[in-house]
Amino acid sequence: MDTSFINYEGANERLKYWYGKKEFDNLARLKKAIEQTIPEQNRYKLFFICAFSNILKPTSFWLTKSIKPQYDPNKKPADVITCFDIQVQFMIAANDQNDAIGNSRTKIVTANFLNKSLRRPKVDLIITSPPYVTSYEYADLHQLSSLWLGYADDYTELREGSIGSLHHVYNFDRELKRLNSTGTNIVFRLLDQDKAKARSVAKYFLDMQQMARVTYNMLSDKGMALFVIGNTEYKGVRIENARHLVESLAESGFNRILITKRRITGKILTPYRDECGRFTTDNNSRKVYSEEYIVIGRKA
Ligand SMILES: C[S@@+](CC[C@H](N)C(=O)[O-])C[C@H]1O[C@@H](n2cnc3c(N)ncnc32)[C@H](O)[C@@H]1O
Repeated sequence: MDTSFINYEGANERLKYWYGKKEFDNLARLKKAIEQTIPEQNRYKLFFICAFSNILKPTSFWLTKSIKPQYDPNKKPADVITCFDIQVQFMIAANDQNDAIGNSRTKIVTANFLNKSLRRPKVDLIITSPPYVTSYEYADLHQLSSLWLGYADDYTELREGSIGSLHHVYNFDRELKRLNSTGTNIVFRLLDQDKAKARSVAKYFLDMQQMARVTYNMLSDKGMALFVIGNTEYKGVRIENARHLVESLAESGFNRILITKRRITGKILTPYRDECGRFTTDNNSRKVYSEEYIVIGRKA
């Protein structure tokens, strides 16, 4: 997509939906300024693009803190330049606190972790917070950054390959037998409640099984992988992501698997569900994400 557009009228319809003209124009100017003033190979380019990406929600009509793309007509979008300035200062302060700078070389690579043709280095440690099932449609959540930064013209294309998406097309009946026993158990219980949901949960479990195998192969002989993962519930069926992950790791060859539970505090996104299972800010409702698990897999 051509992201060098500067006028609101000619912009991507989806982006126009989220922004007032003033904020859109200021963002477009800001992006152009970053592109024009910082040379392509300069290491600060990514820093400023990252800061830009971080201000896309507060400057839009995206409902604050919402985990679903929801338009808030009553919102007063933040001023673009003020917001960018605060974000940049925040990132500079965070970098100042990092005393590892200069001691190591960092390279950031973005890719689909499950992509079969990806060349993966051997590493000693993998730390990850993989997607939770039935919770977030990540391609939709990341749409402002995906569209502004030119990763897609239509953000829904990015659902393909996104672990935990509800929109995968695949042969459910054929793939079902590749699920491990925890996965099979949960999917069959869900089938009684909601076939479409059972299909998407099955795909999530299959992707996570694949993720466990890829992780194992990437690790050096004494390597270790650490996952943050939470359980969830759908129509009375407990979806035990952590148990499924432990089984997937064991099946992939991990020798020692450790698991510990921790309480979640200070999470921005609401941890509450209403009586219908919908997310709510009402803290009298059922709490689903009050705890999460740290699962550690060691090869040796
Ligand atoms: C629980 S979030 C973790 C976010 C991250 N730790 C952070 O703090 O920003 C899971 C992330 O996995 C990403 N994801 C989903 N499928 C993926 C895939 N196939 N390859 C790489 N990342 C993927 C989602 O887009 C989402 O950002």
